[in-house]
Amino acid sequence: MNTLAIVTGGAGDIGRAIAARLSADHDRVLLVDLDLEAANAAAKALGPAERFVALRCDVTDEADVAAMAESARGLGRVRTLVNNAGAAFSVSLQSTTAESWRRDTQLNSEAAFLCLRAVEDMLKETRGSVVNIASVNGLQVFGHPAYSAAKAALLHFTRLTAVEYGRFGIRSNAVAPGTVRTQAWNARADANPNVFEEAKRWYALGRVVDPKDVAEAVGFLASPLAAAITGVCLPVDCGLTAGSAELARTFSQSDDY
Ligand SMILES: NC(=O)c1ccc[n+]([C@@H]2O[C@H](COP(=O)([O-])OP(=O)(O)OC[C@H]3O[C@@H](n4cnc5c(N)ncnc54)[C@H](O)[C@@H]3O)[C@@H](O)[C@H]2O)c1
Repeated sequence: MNTLAIVTGGAGDIGRAIAARLSADHDRVLLVDLDLEAANAAAKALGPAERFVALRCDVTDEADVAAMAESARGLGRVRTLVNNAGAAFSVSLQSTTAESWRRDTQLNSEAAFLCLRAVEDMLKETRGSVVNIASVNGLQVFGHPAYSAAKAALLHFTRLTAVEYGRFGIRSNAVAPGTVRTQAWNARADANPNVFEEAKRWYALGRVVDPKDVAEAVGFLASPLAAAITGVCLPVDCGLTAGSAELARTFSQSDDY
């Protein structure tokens, strides 16, 4: 029977890149998204209908997620679950309401729990793995507080899963991207067309991240090459969380930075 990878938020820029990468070592990829039209377009652009399947599902809705798991069972043996659907709503604590806090939490943390529980029996059968797409916001403070707290929770959920499900051969890892030029930045790029140029100065490699960079890390963590790796967070951040050359220059007063 076909091996299947599930990618939530599969219609988004990072989701599409992950789906393309996972198609190299899975027979079929299920692109799960709230936006069916975009998911259909993404699946069509990625390749033949028997290899890329689009499905509408709100990953914050338990009934939708149960239906998604049922569809997945009919499509193949689930070897990989990528919890990638995510978005940031409130930019600061002072602009966060109780409702927006819950919205950030449901999408960026709770949804990964719902998806894992819905497909865990299939992952047990394949001794498969989970990759959660977190963010550098889950590691340090860069704004968007509710989103960041949810991503930090997602990182701990990654470790919790690794420890509890290791006995079933299931691995659980996370990737924490830095700034990735995707549609999620459209509003910020509209407000400031130089936002990516300005962001680059904080990155050791002098550039922001490409969706393909994230996809390659996911591909590695989901592959047998990472057979002994579980419970980790792999930053894919062009050095953002390693430190700041600008601060090093100020602190050391050396032009070597
Ligand atoms: N873009 C960045 O700079 C960046 C940085 C760090 C982490 N990330 C993370 O990467 C992941 C992908 O982000 P992206 O930049 O590709 O965003 P994106 O907006 O391009 O894609 C997100 C996709 O998720 C879908 N989605 C939203 N809510 C959903 C729901 N309730 N159910 C199902 N699907 C839903 C959207 O329709 C969209 O297709 C997210 O988890 C995000 O937090 C992004």
